[in-house]
Amino acid sequence: VDDRVQPPPFSVAARDGAYDVSFAAQIAGLAAALADVRDRYFVIDETVARLHGPALDALVGDAPRATFPADEHVKTLAGVERVAEAMQRARVARTATAIVIGGGIVQDVGAFAAAIYRRGIPYVLVPTTLLSMADSGIGSKYGVNLGSAKNQLGGFRAPARVVVCSEFLTTLSDAEMRSGFGEIIKLAIIESAAAFEAVRDALLREGLRPSSMLALLHAALQTKKRYIEADEFDLGIRKTLNYGHTFGHALEGLVDHEVPHGDAVAWGLDLANAVAAASGLLEPAAMAGVHELVERVFTRSVSHPYDAAGIIDRIRLDKKSSGGIVELILPAAFGDVRIVPTPIDGDLPRFIAGYLANRDVFRRAEAG
Ligand SMILES: NC(=O)c1ccc[n+]([C@@H]2O[C@H](COP(=O)([O-])OP(=O)(O)OC[C@H]3O[C@@H](n4cnc5c(N)ncnc54)[C@H](O)[C@@H]3O)[C@@H](O)[C@H]2O)c1
Ligand SMILES: [Zn+2]
Repeated sequence: VDDRVQPPPFSVAARDGAYDVSFAAQIAGLAAALADVRDRYFVIDETVARLHGPALDALVGDAPRATFPADEHVKTLAGVERVAEAMQRARVARTATAIVIGGGIVQDVGAFAAAIYRRGIPYVLVPTTLLSMADSGIGSKYGVNLGSAKNQLGGFRAPARVVVCSEFLTTLSDAEMRSGFGEIIKLAIIESAAAFEAVRDALLREGLRPSSMLALLHAALQTKKRYIEADEFDLGIRKTLNYGHTFGHALEGLVDHEVPHGDAVAWGLDLANAVAAASGLLEPAAMAGVHELVERVFTRSVSHPYDAAGIIDRIRLDKKSSGGIVELILPAAFGDVRIVPTPIDGDLPRFIAGYLANRDVFRRAEAG
């Protein structure tokens, strides 16, 4: 990863006011980026706090802080309450700002706690995973799980600002880098063939830490910015960003989060492409390159069983389903990904079964 040239800052329009997204190469540089934030309360990913202890201690100084584990099983209302209780113990005032440093899980819990603590305090995001830098950091959404169903409780509330610091990438495992690329590939396919080719070429030539990483990350953010500014509250066009997620979330629930979120998204978009091809929306050859890339990068074994019937049951629970219809996000081409209302009990189960039998990039345990 070449971090000598940081991407230019930009702003995102939102109901709660526009917020800035800026970039810093070093954790030491965060002090300047946050200098004008008074009365800070830090919520920090436990692992990040351990791996970047001295640099974060210098940043936090005397301000109060809580650490929180990045675990889907505690991305719950109980987890939110735990953070709020820590805020209360630290006597965090209504005028304070929460500074949330972590990946998507700690972001979701921290933003949720900030949204409701004393009816809401502002929050700043400092994403520390590739996925949270490229995707979840912007967009105003926060949510926690309800039972095994993902992100069923939550809301929309913009951050006060977002600061992306690429030094955090240095401690990410390959598995976490790979997961981030799941969302980056999703956004690239939504954008254009050229955007997809840039990501594909970087991955195939240089692996999970390509020199163009920051440019790819910035491009992903620009695509997401366009959709969230056009439809912050997910009433129309923003649903496109759910590409890969209806199937991906179903899988995450079925395998009890054995598969990281971004891997599930990559799998889900490969399945969505297969469904789009089977239903005649997509030229079968068009997405062969995507399948090849997903297979190359994301192939893995999964010890929990899953099958088409299980996936269909989960789709019924999805936020995008109602009255027997699910709004699938399916590509017609690169740069042309559409919202397609689809009967859950029509051809869909057969298309999914066909994918699992012939094209599944994961090696799964058999159901039953
Ligand atoms: N609210 C949104 O808009 C939105 C969007 C996309 C995803 N999400 C949610 O985000 C979550 C996934 O986020 P994620 O992929 O960032 O995973 P994560 O938060 O689980 O982090 C992955 C792992 O990386 C560790 N980690 C974090 N930063 C690190 C660093 N710099 N070095 C080493 N390890 C580090 C974490 O402790 C964790 O073990 C999912 O729950 C997903 O639903 C939310
Ligand atoms: Zn996602």
